[in-house]
Amino acid sequence: MISVSHLSKIYKNDSVETAALSDVSFEIKKGEFVAIMGPSGSGKSTLMHILGALDTPTSGDYVLDGQSVTKLSDDTLAQIRNKKIGFIFQAFNLLPRTSAVKNVMLPMVYAGIDRQERQEKAKKALIAVGLGDRMDYTPAQLSGGQQQRVAIARSLVNNPAIILADEPTGNIASAQADEIMKIFEKLNDTGHTIIMITHEPDIAAHAKRVITVKDGKIIGDKKRR
Ligand SMILES: Nc1ncnc2c1ncn2[C@@H]1O[C@H](COP(=O)(O)OP(=O)(O)O)[C@@H](O)[C@H]1O
Ligand SMILES: [Mg+2]
Repeated sequence: MISVSHLSKIYKNDSVETAALSDVSFEIKKGEFVAIMGPSGSGKSTLMHILGALDTPTSGDYVLDGQSVTKLSDDTLAQIRNKKIGFIFQAFNLLPRTSAVKNVMLPMVYAGIDRQERQEKAKKALIAVGLGDRMDYTPAQLSGGQQQRVAIARSLVNNPAIILADEPTGNIASAQADEIMKIFEKLNDTGHTIIMITHEPDIAAHAKRVITVKDGKIIGDKKRR
């Protein structure tokens, strides 16, 4: 499903060059649950942005479902993102003054789904993450773990094959982080491919495979179960 070969990413700011990724290669098959671990600054977010078609590598190739996505136009990349990938971020990235149900409806606006269907699907997605009684709450009225569950519901409404999560439990208390991991395990059981960045071993322990990065290179790749 995902194949990256010899990926490198160099950021250039004024005269400073940072090699965020150097010659990274791996494959991820459909249905895997992979944690990407590594210290701060090791290139995890850079890798996630490339895997999510939010950014392109400086060199190397990325093939997603048989299609090279390294040299596509921004419009085509946006279409691939909308169809295939659900994103979950550390800071939730919800609209602050907008209810949970409206936050979840948003991606379907871009997908051109009519209002009634948007609402029905958003409600179902919120019930699935255990927030059936919080539909009309705004993010400020929800705990961190609840906000992240809204973000998960939002990432699922277009039924993406791949879920990319960058430090999904980085801003929430550990009891709530366990709930988030239970949701991820359930999603993985129903066929979603999950790629989750974390630097917490307890969180990575929920994945079936752990890829470790350091200084922009892969230094470990282990199947756990
Ligand atoms: N947009 C950017 N411009 C310049 N340097 C960047 C940019 N994004 C990340 N970097 C640098 O690339 C390296 C890897 O960063 P990042 O991928 O965010 O690592 P991680 O997510 O593992 O903390 C760091 O040295 C960081 O400072
Ligand atoms: Mg990061």
